[in-house]
Amino acid sequence: MSSFYEQVGGEPFFSDLVSQFYAHVATDPILRPMYPDSDMKGAAARLQMFLEQYWGGPTTYQEQRGHPRLRMRHAGFHIDSAARDAWLNAMQVVVGGLEMDSDLRAQLWSYLEMAANSMVNQPD
Ligand code: HEM
Repeated sequence: MSSFYEQVGGEPFFSDLVSQFYAHVATDPILRPMYPDSDMKGAAARLQMFLEQYWGGPTTYQEQRGHPRLRMRHAGFHIDSAARDAWLNAMQVVVGGLEMDSDLRAQLWSYLEMAANSMVNQPD
């Protein structure tokens, strides 16, 4: 059984996903102010490494950043339901536009929805 990472075509898939996602972040009124002005490239690289590792690709994220502990790493950002929706909407546009198998798309989407819900740290 090959990994999800291999089935979607490896690094180029994740690079495409993340660069398109950050193009949305750059113009989103809720998300843009949350991300570091001077290090959008770094932010994109971290998300790409994380997703590649999560889906069975190289473990560069772990080597450079340590254990993901994503909820903890997001604790410093004000993530309410509006921020989650903005993040997920941007992802939905991107994931919906990528060339990929529909079962793999469904798997990716259900993970992203679950993960985004788990990152909410502010009540409405
Ligand atoms: C729910 C809405 C979310 C918001 C508003 C949000 C916002 C942010 C912000 C502002 C950063 C800092 C950027 C940087 O790395 O310098 C960040 C980092 C990161 N986010 Fe999110 N995020 C959300 C959901 C998610 C989800 C669902 C995932 C994973 C599937 C994720 C994965 C990451 C990763 C891997 C990093 C870098 C962590 C590190 O190594 O420092 N985020 N996020």
